[in-house]
Amino acid sequence: MALRNYIYTFLFFFCFISLHATHLVEAAIVSPNYNNLHSSSVSSSTSKNSTSKKHHHKWIGPSGHLFITVDADGFGDFLSVQDAVDSVPVNNTKNVLIRIKAGCYIEKVVVPESKPYITLKGEGRDITVIEWHDRASDRGRDGMQLRTYHTASVTVFANYFSARNISFKNTAPAPMPGMQGRQAVAFRISGDKAFFSGCGFYGAQDTLCDDAGRHYFKECYIEGSIDFIFGNGRSMYKDCELHSIATRFGSIAAQGRKLPDENTGFAFLNCKVTGSGPLYVGRAMGQYSRIVFSYTYFDDVVAHGGWDDWDHVSNKNKTAFFGVYKCWGPGAAAVRGVSWARELDYDTAHKFLAKSFVNGRHWIDPSDA
Ligand SMILES: *[C@@H]1O[C@H](CO)[C@@H](O)[C@H](O)[C@H]1NC(C)=O
Ligand SMILES: *[C@@H]1O[C@H](CO)[C@@H](O)[C@H](O)[C@H]1NC(C)=O
Ligand SMILES: *[C@@H]1O[C@H](CO)[C@@H](O)[C@H](O)[C@H]1NC(C)=O
Ligand SMILES: *[C@@H]1O[C@H](CO)[C@@H](O)[C@H](O)[C@H]1NC(C)=O
Repeated sequence: MALRNYIYTFLFFFCFISLHATHLVEAAIVSPNYNNLHSSSVSSSTSKNSTSKKHHHKWIGPSGHLFITVDADGFGDFLSVQDAVDSVPVNNTKNVLIRIKAGCYIEKVVVPESKPYITLKGEGRDITVIEWHDRASDRGRDGMQLRTYHTASVTVFANYFSARNISFKNTAPAPMPGMQGRQAVAFRISGDKAFFSGCGFYGAQDTLCDDAGRHYFKECYIEGSIDFIFGNGRSMYKDCELHSIATRFGSIAAQGRKLPDENTGFAFLNCKVTGSGPLYVGRAMGQYSRIVFSYTYFDDVVAHGGWDDWDHVSNKNKTAFFGVYKCWGPGAAAVRGVSWARELDYDTAHKFLAKSFVNGRHWIDPSDA
């Protein structure tokens, strides 16, 4: 409790400062969605032949911009993030930049599928925070248990979402080992082509639900205890810190690929693993789970064996693809601890080393990758 009060005081302090710091730094507005600018410029430069143009399906990206400011202190367009999202028209066709002033926004937020091209931009991941506190065993409005996927403080179903310099938290208390129903997601991304930069994700069990679609996380901080990155996304995590707060046993990533021809998987590149252990680095949530760590630093927190086959009965140790490439640090040897996790050679590793793993050339601005 004392710590929470401290944090609020801290946030208040930054709110106060921000009022005086003005918006100067924000003057250079980033274009929130590279893909669409990129695609539309391609279509206009290749459509000199207006006869043939008629016969092509023109890819329709967003045009124009919409700027919205959320400020808990009342100097913006809205007080809450959800109100800002609600104000975006259904079937949105603009690049929407929602700037969120420093502060702690205690609310549950959903970005529906009908609102693509939204960017949430905070003032820094230590000072702009969205948080809520649902747990899987909590009851929803219908009286039923929420279950893990519905606990997320922020849920995004839309495509072309991005977030910058903001944190997402689930503040439900961390479970003691063995407790049931305590999964508590901070952020769930279920849309395709999502980009995150300079973001924080804080929770304990199941912090980040990397559910479905192609995602790129750059310079993010992700904290949790058990399976704190999980789902069946196809994602690259580059230059991220993965921080464990596990008390007795923990695990970083649980990936849900179910079939050998699915192209999902988690590629961790140049990341840093810190915190408390012992920690499994990956678990085979799906039969064909795919997880690769490359050029990643491991503190001395990795559990004996390094990886977990989830249930010990379905031979996932024969079908999962768990790989390591040029990792280092005092925990790195333990990541090669089971015979079925492989040290990759360059030919096998290289597809997990570039943004092409998520087709990033088509939707991630080169200056962002
Ligand atoms: C434009 O398209 C038409 C019909 O597809 C084609 O006959 C013609 O050669 C094209 N012209 C150029 C300059 O590409
Ligand atoms: C949004 O688009 C969907 C699918 O094209 C359409 O069915 C729906 O009526 C649209 N809604 C609005 C409010 O424009
Ligand atoms: C925002 O994020 C970028 C990239 O992660 C970082 O370089 C920059 O310093 C951040 N700005 C603030 C205000 O935190
Ligand atoms: C693989 O898992 C099965 C149970 O699913 C187990 O019997 C077997 O010993 C494991 N093999 C290795 C090499 O760990």
